Amino acid sequence: MKIGILGGTGRMGLGLARSYSTAGHTVILGSRNPVQAHDAANSLPISVHGGSLAEAAREGELIVLAVPFAAGIDTVLAVQQHLPEKIIIDITNPFGAVPAGQISGIEHNREAAPTAKWVAAYKTTFWKTLESPTNPGGHPRDVFVSAEDAEALATVMDLIASTGFRAVDCGGFENARTLDLMVPLMIELDSRYRKDAGSSWKFLG
Ligand SMILES: NC(=O)c1ccc[n+]([C@@H]2O[C@H](COP(=O)([O-])OP(=O)(O)OC[C@H]3O[C@@H](n4cnc5c(N)ncnc54)[C@H](OP(=O)(O)O)[C@@H]3O)[C@@H](O)[C@H]2O)c1
Repeated sequence: MKIGILGGTGRMGLGLARSYSTAGHTVILGSRNPVQAHDAANSLPISVHGGSLAEAAREGELIVLAVPFAAGIDTVLAVQQHLPEKIIIDITNPFGAVPAGQISGIEHNREAAPTAKWVAAYKTTFWKTLESPTNPGGHPRDVFVSAEDAEALATVMDLIASTGFRAVDCGGFENARTLDLMVPLMIELDSRYRKDAGSSWKFLG
């Protein structure tokens, strides 16, 4: 699959690019600064290319929104014409920027491209763990996923599984609100018990 990453030069963007290219996908890193994206891509496998945000949005069959939450809406609006019907994986964490008790980050962001198929994922996945989908004890790390479109959910669950992580279907966007709130708690727990952003949430079913 061709995957366009908006914010592809960031910690999560580059980590996901490595993860997806290792799994056999082609990745386009989209940046506000295409030269920076070309340089970043040159340090990665040949199946990763750098370009503008518009190029990543146009060439990607599936899009990852990996910019800071505050920049999410404007980034999507700027490339909106390339997004109708595409799957968008929203990894942005609002950290309380969404009005309390109202909606999740993804419900807020999807207003910028309402006909795209939005899927929340990776919100509780620290960037440092992207290169080690299995923890030192041999347990696959969980990536929590929330979606309202069954086909998009299945595609993203398969993509995540192809990279060695365990995808966990968390249901609709009402539960993405909970995922958003798990992130500050995760940072708190990691800072108390590890201090290296190397931990993960795990659902033991
Ligand atoms: N860090 C984590 O462990 C983690 C885990 C899960 C989810 N997340 C979420 O993932 C997203 C990216 O996190 P990150 O840690 O990868 O951040 P980062 O390292 O700061 O990278 C974000 C990228 O977004 C672009 N960007 C920055 N400001 C922008 C703006 N105002 N408008 C458009 N693009 C902008 C930059 O690319 P250019 O300068 O090249 O355009 C930058 O490389 C955030 O929403 C974060 O909450 C992070």
